[in-house]
Amino acid sequence: MRTIVVYSSRTGNTKKVGEAIAAALPEGTRAVSVQQVPADLADYDCVFLGFWIDRGQADKDAANLLPKLMNKHVALFATLGADPRSPHAAESLEKAAQLLPEGKKPAGKFICQGAVDPKVIEMMYKMFPKGHVHGQSAERDALHAEAAKHPDEADLAAARAFAKKTMEDIGRGKV
Ligand SMILES: Cc1cc2nc3c(=O)[nH]c(=O)nc-3n(C[C@H](O)[C@H](O)[C@H](O)COP(=O)(O)O)c2cc1C
Repeated sequence: MRTIVVYSSRTGNTKKVGEAIAAALPEGTRAVSVQQVPADLADYDCVFLGFWIDRGQADKDAANLLPKLMNKHVALFATLGADPRSPHAAESLEKAAQLLPEGKKPAGKFICQGAVDPKVIEMMYKMFPKGHVHGQSAERDALHAEAAKHPDEADLAAARAFAKKTMEDIGRGKV
């Protein structure tokens, strides 16, 4: 089965996860940036597409690619600043899945936390008043401090396990 990993990454978090996923897939599986998608992408049996969450959805480059993925199997992975167990994380992944061609369901989904660009945090703190959900607060500072540690080794191990399980599910005809 021809498999490829495609990632969209602004500051490197999703790239790291994509490379871990590729390393867990059959030898020779490539991880390429969304800007370097091969011309024969449609010929791959399986695509793992990764993106960063931008205002509750897949970032623009990934969002543009999602509806074009007619490949037999498509698995999704993402990174975000918020808690990956939050409803926001699940909803953001689900929104991305809905951009797939009609009737197509992802073969697997994975999301983990990723450091938020300090310049973006600074901009948000300037833009939104204290008390606003995106404004500075002890809770917000704690969230960013936690995000800054990710993706960590445990996230990358979980990403590798996700890749292996997705391939097993595909092999068993479960997805
Ligand atoms: C413009 C912008 C919007 C973002 N929107 C969200 C968001 O809605 N929810 C969230 O949890 N994180 C959000 N983030 C944080 C990123 O999704 C997170 O830092 C991600 O790991 C970045 O991945 P990358 O390093 O691959 O670019 C946003 C970041 C930026 C720059």
